[in-house]
Amino acid sequence: MAERVRVAVLISGRGSNLEALAEHKRKADPYYEIAIVASNVPEARGLVLARRFGLPTWSHSHKGMDRAEFDRMVDAELRRRDVEVIALAGYMRLLSAEFIRAWDGRILNIHPSLLPQYKGLDTHRRALLAGEDYAGCSVHLVTEELDSGPVLAQSRVRIEPRDDAETLAARVLAAEHELYPRALDEYCWILLSERDGRAGAIDVGT
Ligand code: GAR
Repeated sequence: MAERVRVAVLISGRGSNLEALAEHKRKADPYYEIAIVASNVPEARGLVLARRFGLPTWSHSHKGMDRAEFDRMVDAELRRRDVEVIALAGYMRLLSAEFIRAWDGRILNIHPSLLPQYKGLDTHRRALLAGEDYAGCSVHLVTEELDSGPVLAQSRVRIEPRDDAETLAARVLAAEHELYPRALDEYCWILLSERDGRAGAIDVGT
């Protein structure tokens, strides 16, 4: 089996999920390696973190650019780096249909809700207003419809009576940091197994 899947992590801001993905690599021996951290926000804090981890970075502002044109630039950079899978980690920009089709089945995203509930923004405030007992996060495949692709993994977080959007967001974020590295690792393992013609050979640890 080829050693690792080359992953591009796309970010727009803080980069705490990127940090979790990079940390996982330090602690465990995952089936992915981060080939590039790319951002549409050149001043994103996550780019500073990426450099601290010694990861290659690329950034370009999307401002004043057509969406598809910007995505073609990103696409070219990822291909230059032999990227196989894309992990969106707080990438707050819609992708063009053309880009999503080109990477069909190979773009993962982490979203701060229990999909299919609360697609889009402001998820925690909406869950609190609705009186939900649980919030959480989902890792899903990206399709052309926003936050609607197949869910690969989820983690539930109980909503406490005293929660506000901020306290809830902090606990969900901690759950994201646990979930995303594991889900990405598992997805990459499946890709490698399929490539080796070993699909379905699940190691049950007997
Ligand atoms: C995370 O909570 C992530 O789930 C969310 O943005 C935050 C990024 O934080 N993503 C979305 O809302 C995408 N729809 P980070 O930059 O610290 O990883």
